[in-house]
Amino acid sequence: MNPLTSSSPILVVGASGLLGSFVVKHLKNSPLLTPSHAQLDITQRQQVFAFMAAHQPRLIINCAAYTDVRASEHTTHLAMAVNAVAVQTLAEVSAQHKARLIHISTDYVFAGQKTTPYTENDTPNPQTVYGMSKWQGEQAMTHSLKPELGVILRTSWLCSPQQGLLVALFSQLKNAPELCLEDRITSSPTWVHSLAQVIAILAIQPHLHGVFHVSARGAVTPYQLAQELQTQALEKGLLVTQKILRTGYKDTLVRPAYSSLCGQKLEKKLGWQQEPWQQVVTKFLASQQPHL
Ligand SMILES: NC(=O)c1ccc[n+]([C@@H]2O[C@H](COP(=O)([O-])OP(=O)(O)OC[C@H]3O[C@@H](n4cnc5c(N)ncnc54)[C@H](OP(=O)(O)O)[C@@H]3O)[C@@H](O)[C@H]2O)c1
Repeated sequence: MNPLTSSSPILVVGASGLLGSFVVKHLKNSPLLTPSHAQLDITQRQQVFAFMAAHQPRLIINCAAYTDVRASEHTTHLAMAVNAVAVQTLAEVSAQHKARLIHISTDYVFAGQKTTPYTENDTPNPQTVYGMSKWQGEQAMTHSLKPELGVILRTSWLCSPQQGLLVALFSQLKNAPELCLEDRITSSPTWVHSLAQVIAILAIQPHLHGVFHVSARGAVTPYQLAQELQTQALEKGLLVTQKILRTGYKDTLVRPAYSSLCGQKLEKKLGWQQEPWQQVVTKFLASQQPHL
């Protein structure tokens, strides 16, 4: 079988995760392989090579990761195994089969000392174990795969109707009498459908390769995000009482102070319009409307 024909399948790794499950929805008209973690553990090198030999996908979309940022500080070996070593394996197997690899990375590869959005030309300098493991994964991919076969998408604060920061904030707005929120970290939310749509477009544009940043436009703190969420939710009747929002929440984990991503490269190369971050809130609340 020619691995580059459009009838050969696309392999989605991490298909059960927050992002992976939406990528599967957006690619539902393509032949897909969506093995579970148990069926394909990407830290098992031989398993990965055997799976590729058996199924010959033309494209691998790697949505699998060890994403527990806090736990990573203590379980370094797990973060490195999934986010770095396994990405090297996926890059090597892609190279062997001349398959494309779309890999997902994070704003946490950056140190967070800038005050304007990070571009693809900024140099990563991660400050967390998770960020370091993801940066090592990116480097492994760059070293092991011809540039024209690889796409790295860095994203931030993934939000879906069921998971992510907006779910946590909305639950607090509904249930807590008042909220104490983080205002010392600034980034951008990303609506999971928007990222999955970008991935679906890239899947059919084999000439596009390299590193791209994908998030909503505009930098915001969790405190500001909660303010906007509350305002829109009250307007839409999804909240009945206004809660007091305070700043001053102190996380024990040191995160990048500023990690908003600049999406201009993707806008230029893909014609993709970055949505303003307030629109992510609007889309999230639309997904929370009770079904009539
Ligand atoms: N969530 C965010 O806010 C955020 C922000 C920036 C970047 N990202 C990046 O976006 C990508 C997707 O994140 P996500 O939030 O969708 O992750 P997630 O919900 O934690 O899902 C991770 C997926 O990876 C699978 N997995 C873990 N270890 C594996 C292994 N060894 N072999 C095969 N599959 C394995 C998990 O399967 P099981 O559950 O069965 O173990 C799960 O399906 C990741 O690269 C992440 O670093 C996420």
